[in-house]
Amino acid sequence: MFIDPFGRAITYLRISLTDRCNLRCVYCMPQDGLQWQSRASQLSVEEIARVVESAARGGVTRVRLTGGEPLVHPHIVEIVRRIASISAIEEVSLTTNAMLLERLAQPLADAGLKRVNISLDSLDADKFRRITRDGDIDRVWRGIAAAECSHLAPLKLNTVIVRGLNADELPALARLTLENDWHVRFIEVMPIGNAQNWGEGFPAPSERYISVHEMRDMLSTFDLQPVTAPQGNGPARTYRIPNALGTVGFISPLGEHFCQNCNRLRLTSDGKLRSCLVTPNEVSLRDALRSGQPLEPFFEQAIAQKPQHHDMLAAIPAVSRRGMSQIGG
Ligand code: GTP
Ligand code: 5AD
Ligand code: SF4
Repeated sequence: MFIDPFGRAITYLRISLTDRCNLRCVYCMPQDGLQWQSRASQLSVEEIARVVESAARGGVTRVRLTGGEPLVHPHIVEIVRRIASISAIEEVSLTTNAMLLERLAQPLADAGLKRVNISLDSLDADKFRRITRDGDIDRVWRGIAAAECSHLAPLKLNTVIVRGLNADELPALARLTLENDWHVRFIEVMPIGNAQNWGEGFPAPSERYISVHEMRDMLSTFDLQPVTAPQGNGPARTYRIPNALGTVGFISPLGEHFCQNCNRLRLTSDGKLRSCLVTPNEVSLRDALRSGQPLEPFFEQAIAQKPQHHDMLAAIPAVSRRGMSQIGG
């Protein structure tokens, strides 16, 4: 079993399948995108399957596929099928912007995908387009409908809340849970990824952050009741508006960090094991995979390096060397 030096069992692997994305959310990527990693540096379907088999032998039971945008990967359905067929893996899930979900939801469900978390930062089509720099909210709604038809449940929505941009939509987003069995999670904006200037009309770096504490205050009229989180081992603290079908969650990497319960390990899109989103320690699996070496010692090394907790503010210069889209959020 993978147990880290602080006694935490590592049972959840997040795999960033690609650093590429079909959107450019302001908090994640610059307008012109990033210097993409070469195709040769990315793991093949076969290599990804070998990594997950090895992780499963160490006790990993859940896998989440992220990006960039995992649905732009040309072999996404095959990757899900391979991972879902590993008997120790109980759940394969995916975090997506949903732009390509309408067409892929059913093939992914057929391949063994259990559920999806979808980014949705605004309910207003124009604002959504501005935040994502060209995203089409109608496609997201069609993707959500397709996920529901394909029984990819429970459905979670991720909203990164930024002061002066979408914080005014907190009540409307929370109200989505009244009549839909959806789990809306409000996320503190992290200074990882595109922390610099977002351009004309966007709030300055020092103005953007809102703590979950303040978000909860902004929702005080809803009488939020604490509840157990729906399926998932994630960092959200979860509440329900009385009689609502869905829940409202808060993810607070900065204000109330959740490292003491961290169960996760990450695989970057260029084949490196990373034991923390924030702390830059990495162990490369790529050469080991390509020279046929056993992977277990590399997993052990990565887990031995897992920090007790991150210090996001102190780590900013180091973390911003790698963007969120390369690590996988
Ligand atoms: P489930 O609980 O399995 O549904 O997943 P999740 O909520 O962990 O996954 P998701 O990809 O939807 O991530 C939601 C938000 O949490 C994103 O903004 C992530 O960047 C953030 N997040 C996920 N894991 C970590 C972590 O280990 N540390 C920090 N600081 N943030 C995380
Ligand atoms: N701060 C907080 N969340 C972020 N995400 C991407 N970049 C950031 C950031 N800088 C979120 C996306 C997506 C998830 C994978 O990570 O909105 O839902
Ligand atoms: Fe793409 Fe997700 Fe980054 Fe938006 S947050 S640019 S959808 S990887």
